[in-house]
Amino acid sequence: MEKIVSLCKRRGFVFQSSEIYGGINGFWDYGPLGAELKRNVKELWWNTMTRQRDDIAGLEATIIMSPQIWKASGHVDTFADLMVECPVTNKRYRADQVDPQSGVVYYYGGALEESAKYAEWLNSNKAVAAHREEDLRPFSVLLEKGKPAEAARKVAVQFYSKGGVIQFPVLQGERAEVIEKTILYSPDSGARLTEARPFNLMFKTYVGPVESEENVAYLRPETAQAIFAQFQNVYATSRQKVPFGIAQIGKAFRNEVTPRNYTFRSREFEQMELEFFIKPDEVIEAMHGSVVTVSETAHPGEPQANWGWQAWHQYWVEERVRFYEGIGLSRNTLGFHRQTPEELAHYARACVDILFKFPFSKRDENGELKGEELEGIAARSDFDLSQHARFSGKPMGVFDEDLRAAWGKLAKEKQDDLWRRYYEGRKRYLIKMGVAVEEAGKLATEDANGLAKGQYIPHVIEPSAGVDRLILALIANAYSEETSTDAKGKAETRYVMHFHPRVAPVKLGIFPLLKNKPELVKKALEVRDLLRPWFNVFYDDSGNIGRRYARQDEAGTPYCVTIDFDTLGEKPELLDTVTIRHRDDGHQERLKISELRDWMLERIR
Ligand code: GAP
Repeated sequence: MEKIVSLCKRRGFVFQSSEIYGGINGFWDYGPLGAELKRNVKELWWNTMTRQRDDIAGLEATIIMSPQIWKASGHVDTFADLMVECPVTNKRYRADQVDPQSGVVYYYGGALEESAKYAEWLNSNKAVAAHREEDLRPFSVLLEKGKPAEAARKVAVQFYSKGGVIQFPVLQGERAEVIEKTILYSPDSGARLTEARPFNLMFKTYVGPVESEENVAYLRPETAQAIFAQFQNVYATSRQKVPFGIAQIGKAFRNEVTPRNYTFRSREFEQMELEFFIKPDEVIEAMHGSVVTVSETAHPGEPQANWGWQAWHQYWVEERVRFYEGIGLSRNTLGFHRQTPEELAHYARACVDILFKFPFSKRDENGELKGEELEGIAARSDFDLSQHARFSGKPMGVFDEDLRAAWGKLAKEKQDDLWRRYYEGRKRYLIKMGVAVEEAGKLATEDANGLAKGQYIPHVIEPSAGVDRLILALIANAYSEETSTDAKGKAETRYVMHFHPRVAPVKLGIFPLLKNKPELVKKALEVRDLLRPWFNVFYDDSGNIGRRYARQDEAGTPYCVTIDFDTLGEKPELLDTVTIRHRDDGHQERLKISELRDWMLERIR
């Protein structure tokens, strides 16, 4: 990782935000190459998700929205990490991210004032009236094995003195014990951490000039909620029918307790989210007789009308993997984590995380990198739309004439069975959300009665990816060091970023063979002007050709062309041709300038 971080800074992929002021933890800027890389990734996602498909529409919503949205979504009440704090240094940690430590724990029963010194001190400090004679809170400190007990005592004295008025503490009841793999102690001071308490991750602000409770607003912690809130508007204006999706790319903000692993966990980041709305299984069954289920290990193929949530979920997991493969992250660089029932949110049916094997990932028992989350694909039932329907009082359901017609043709027994299942699902959800049992039964009955009228609330499959994590994955995946020996026997290390041409920040380097030959420069500039409306090119005439290649290799430019005397017709048969050099294997070929654009477009699209 250190090498990757260093290259990112040196070549202008990523900079620390506000670096000249010492930086700001959890915030990162993208330099010239990083900005291009990011733009390419977002463009590819947008194209794949919206323009290349008939069933997905786009949205671009605001970052600050009505705080009611975050009430309805549950973020105000439950979007929190459990946090612990070191009582000595006040450093905070996410409770689930404290690394297990082993060593000797020193326990103390409290601290008393050393009475003689204290009496003397009191005489000379008459002004201090409120003092504490003793502090008998238990406390403990973890030390590495072999360290002297005095080190623990120092931390304990700091603890008892902090915030109190103890001047001359005498520690009480010291006792030591060897402990293995505990997560209860501060990794920096060894002090026993505080009890875990929830810490809401949303950044708060005020809308308007008055900083009052009524004016509180939040920077969105995910882009998804705007999609749910705008569901009816998009549905009405896009002429889509369920199943269909709404996609959005945009900034999200989370006041992470411990931002870490470079850009992996940041406080400001970008998400690319799709909410794909589908019919509930009961509706599919009413319309198509049954719901098809598919293998959990393969792409289920083209969408079918009788797909229920399980098939759609599997479809989106596989579609997303294909997207990653298409930009150079092969399947063996990825991992998968299917959330267990205990890990799943109460409303979710399933969630598969696509992981990338980052260099800092944890390892399994065989020493293999397990990977860290790049994207989560969740089957979220009708939870989100239902919540917004309840909180806003606006209907979030849809009407489907085909369902109404199909329902009328069902046998009474089948109608009863589907009605009951839909009713039970709705009632379960309402009770879970705190609606009184009787009221929940009444509302669920209304919802289930809606089926006969062709009405239902769509369910949703949500592939939610982080742009910044993907950028970091692409950079880590592309990085390579290649050592070779030059003609004089000197070892040279070449750094090459093997980006897939689709995401590479610069697509083509354009070099005149010699800088001081105006006719070569003129021709090279002509080639640059010919190609730059189509893709990002980089003109470079400084240094020898080898150096120029090396610079583009570090930037991850997949191809470079050189304009030489043959281009100008020194060998007449090579007039208006250039040498194109491939980054990954160094091989070179001759191409006509007139063919260059299409040759490139074939490879970068
Ligand atoms: N709407 C669902 C949602 O937001 P999430 O798992 O919390 O789900 C989705 O976030 C994706 O956003 C993650 O898979 C990750 O790629 C990215 N992400 C989340 N928190 C992040 C952070 N602090 N820094 C960078 N990326 C983050």
